[in-house]
Amino acid sequence: MRRFLVCALLLSPAILPAQQAIPHLEQRGQATQMIVDGKPFLMLSGELHNSSSSSLAYMEPEWKQLAGMGLNTVVTPLSWELIEPTEGKFDFSLVDGLLAQAREQHLKIVFLWLAAWKNGMSGYPPVWVKENLQRFPRVMEHGQPQPILSTFSPALLEADSRAFKALLEHIRSVDTQDRTVLMMQVENEVGVLGASRDHSAAADAAFAGPVPAELMRSLEQHHATLNEELRTLWEKNGAKTHGTWTEVFGDSARTDAIFMAWHYAKYVQAVAAAGKSAYPLPMYANAWLAGEDTPPGDYPSGGPQPRVLDVWKAAGNGLDILAPDLYAAGFEDWCRRYHRPDNPLWIPETNGGSVGAANVFYAVGEQAALGFSPFGIDAGMHGEADAGNTLANGRADLHASYTALAELEPLLAAAQGAGNVHGFLLSQSHPTVDFVMHGVTVHVTLDEIFGQHAMSGFGLIMEESPNHYLGAGKGFRVSFTPRDDKAPQLGIASIDEGRFENGSWVPGRRLNGDENDQGNGWRFDSRELRIERAVLYSFQ
Ligand code: DGJ
Repeated sequence: MRRFLVCALLLSPAILPAQQAIPHLEQRGQATQMIVDGKPFLMLSGELHNSSSSSLAYMEPEWKQLAGMGLNTVVTPLSWELIEPTEGKFDFSLVDGLLAQAREQHLKIVFLWLAAWKNGMSGYPPVWVKENLQRFPRVMEHGQPQPILSTFSPALLEADSRAFKALLEHIRSVDTQDRTVLMMQVENEVGVLGASRDHSAAADAAFAGPVPAELMRSLEQHHATLNEELRTLWEKNGAKTHGTWTEVFGDSARTDAIFMAWHYAKYVQAVAAAGKSAYPLPMYANAWLAGEDTPPGDYPSGGPQPRVLDVWKAAGNGLDILAPDLYAAGFEDWCRRYHRPDNPLWIPETNGGSVGAANVFYAVGEQAALGFSPFGIDAGMHGEADAGNTLANGRADLHASYTALAELEPLLAAAQGAGNVHGFLLSQSHPTVDFVMHGVTVHVTLDEIFGQHAMSGFGLIMEESPNHYLGAGKGFRVSFTPRDDKAPQLGIASIDEGRFENGSWVPGRRLNGDENDQGNGWRFDSRELRIERAVLYSFQ
């Protein structure tokens, strides 16, 4: 215990000089931010295809291309089977190789610990785990073992935690200067597939027993702010403070999903905590999202869906973030559901290309996201044909968005903290949005000029100081009205295009003519992503 305390103290971000401090999350004003080298760091990321980082030779030509796409961080899978092929014998040469390759291109890494589960299934544990069903039991459905390890296995939790802790100990020992590793994902999209819960003997016994007092206490404590669906289910069944799972939540597949959420959450929180005891990097778990009507089991039942986030939070504090793998329609809604006072937004998997190029502005501008990470970012890097959601076609768009956001990073971080920034996505079905910033209504609409209407638009607007605004994006126009209709009206004094170089504004043209309706509006046309500054004046 004492050794642990001394170790934790030595590693504490607070007592290390900024350059050596461990990457950590910090509340700065209204936003929680990733702090690297003492400064907020926006993770402009991409996630590799599952198998790319299992081979250093395969990865060798990728890093330069990844850096060339404007990424500063790569979500890099690392599987248990490759780290501990024989029980108790660890091989970290792959980790060391990946770190060396990333550093050459000045890229950061978020490691993805593919261990007991990936997409609900158990394809990534070492074979000594897979083959030993007595020691590492499986989820049972209709009396048959499934290719899914059961959470009701203390031996599995112990083995997984030991390997993860060894990995974190290794990272701690080799990543002292560069701090290349920013964060760890623990497991991947956990949950039972094919049925709403595990039916092994141990699972059935737990299901017949009482809801743990720890969970009940947390529900009572957070009653008012619980996810609406969870609260309704609980209240509909009498808001009991003890009882079995079906007594407390009713007899339905939703109850099974809550039960599984508790057990997966306990497990993943414990693995994360074991890792943190060696090296306290930020840690998160990700969710395969399901639509409202999708029955548990058609999606991994028990994964950190919005409706069970409170259950996951109640199960421990090893995890800092529960994160959505966000491919579904309704991007803004899903972001809102995951961005909570107790949960900053980080999107570890999502669409890239031109869709991602737009969405990232909403995520960081409106929801203070810590970062954004399109999946399959290395698609096409070996000359292979592109596939599905990897969107190599829109790569230039994502690059343009990442380049602009990298230029804006220090300003954006300050504005996130101060609450002086808004991000938006516009479409033909959602063509306008209004924000109020310090008594001024900022009205944003899809761009239109000479009868030509933009099909879509995206961007962000920051208030830098009274009457001084910075905008970035494309396909929209902005106007300003004082909220108080007796206040002086607002006109546009000037609009300048420009860019930031090492944090300093390098102005380009003054744009008070045709580009902006002779200075009567502030336009970002659809052709190209731009960064511009507008200054307002008042008149009566
Ligand atoms: C979500 C998973 O987490 C990824 O590993 C990958 O399988 C993608 N789906 C594929 O779209």
